[in-house]
Amino acid sequence: MSVTVLVGAQYGDEGKGKIVDFLSEQMDMVVRFQGGDNAGHTVVNEQGSFKLHLVPCGIFKKGGKAFVGTGMVVNPDELLRELAEIESQGVGTSGLFISSRAVILMPYHIELDNLSEKSGRTNIGTTKRGIGYAYADKARRNALRFEDLLDLSYCEKRIRAVMPTVNAELAAKGGREFAVEEILDKAKFWAEKLAHRIVEPVSFVNQAIDEGKNLLFEGQLGAMKDIDLGIYPYVTSSNPVAAYAAVSAGFPVRKITEIVGVMKAFSSAVGDGPFPTEMDPTTADGFRGKGDQIDDEFGARTGRARRLGWLDLPVVRYAAIINGFTSIALCKIDKLDTYDEIKVCTAYKLDGKVIDYMPSAKDLYRVEPVYVTMKGWKTSTREVREYKNLPENAKKYIELIESAAGVPVRYIGVGPARNEIIVK
Ligand code: GDP
Ligand code: IMO
Ligand code: MG
Repeated sequence: MSVTVLVGAQYGDEGKGKIVDFLSEQMDMVVRFQGGDNAGHTVVNEQGSFKLHLVPCGIFKKGGKAFVGTGMVVNPDELLRELAEIESQGVGTSGLFISSRAVILMPYHIELDNLSEKSGRTNIGTTKRGIGYAYADKARRNALRFEDLLDLSYCEKRIRAVMPTVNAELAAKGGREFAVEEILDKAKFWAEKLAHRIVEPVSFVNQAIDEGKNLLFEGQLGAMKDIDLGIYPYVTSSNPVAAYAAVSAGFPVRKITEIVGVMKAFSSAVGDGPFPTEMDPTTADGFRGKGDQIDDEFGARTGRARRLGWLDLPVVRYAAIINGFTSIALCKIDKLDTYDEIKVCTAYKLDGKVIDYMPSAKDLYRVEPVYVTMKGWKTSTREVREYKNLPENAKKYIELIESAAGVPVRYIGVGPARNEIIVK
């Protein structure tokens, strides 16, 4: 029996999809535990190349289960589109189930997100998938859940109850209002297409744990974008930290056996907010690529050019503290192969003094990163499959991460594909 939780250790897009796909070979079930289709998780394996948004990256494991968990906000149209897409690539989806308690992300949530972003008043740079508004409706008890699709007369009552609040907010923002019938028709369609996949989540997950199965909980985004612990307000609307896997699925926290923090060998972020180690535009362009390769630095969800920066160890250390990593998966070490020198931020100074905590967003804009310069290794690591064969300077880079985070680096990504990995 193992319960592994896998989360992002930076600002998202660390390579979670690749590592989940790799680890899912040993898993009986993979559960996505928060977020929605703001995620873009890239998987490259023998079945093809995929960018998954709602479907857990364990879907490729034959005979395994993939669970769309309670803590998520799920746009059913997007889920159906994604299922159809991967089925057309020959991937079986009969093992995919949805928590009856997951929130349904509605078309009006997307409309509201777009109106907010357009107004320029919030400046968060969201993915415009309606995530914040779906979670807001959940918190103010105005959301519908997948269980409501199983009883359409109850569902209709709920739609009639929630729509006046929604339409008032749309009207106040100058958006189009939605008729009850329009949402009800959608609900009927979703019920027809998805009812057979909806299950009661607490018994579903706990039974699997009690039967001694191997479960992997897949997080979305990363520590710095956590609504409580990240760079508020430039965050998402859920908790991408490991402990939330237990809250979301309804199992005891003490049953977690492994917590894997996924990080990339440098930093990237999408959207607004402080980013202390951000590179100058010319250096960043060199890292980013032109967008014609699967591992170029463009958002897997929105296609936006990612902001890029040097490795920020205070971020990784903070992520290790709030998550309790038992190991780290370090992706994209190969992307540093050609550099003479590599900068690494080891601490922040605020008002001239080194600080030993993660400041909130307002002060994070003002911190001065303290850098060390590491020597590059100037050889390709793409073909390396054993730790001992990595160049010495790459090992030094990895050791620096281990000592900053206080956690061993167990997996090292040397390319986008499933097998381009070193297990240390
Ligand atoms: P996620 O959101 O954490 O799943 O990460 P994304 O899929 O959004 O972004 C990670 C990007 O890095 C994708 O383009 C992956 O194909 C790529 N990637 C992941 N691991 C590696 C690696 O070890 N080396 C290289 N070159 N690319 C990687
Ligand atoms: P994965 O799972 C990177 C960012 C957005 C914005 C903020 C809030 O692929 O790592 P939201 O749409 O959630 O309300 O946007 O969070 N963001 C991501 N950045 N990777 C993601 O997902 C992201 N999901 C949201 O750019 O700054
Ligand atoms: Mg991503």
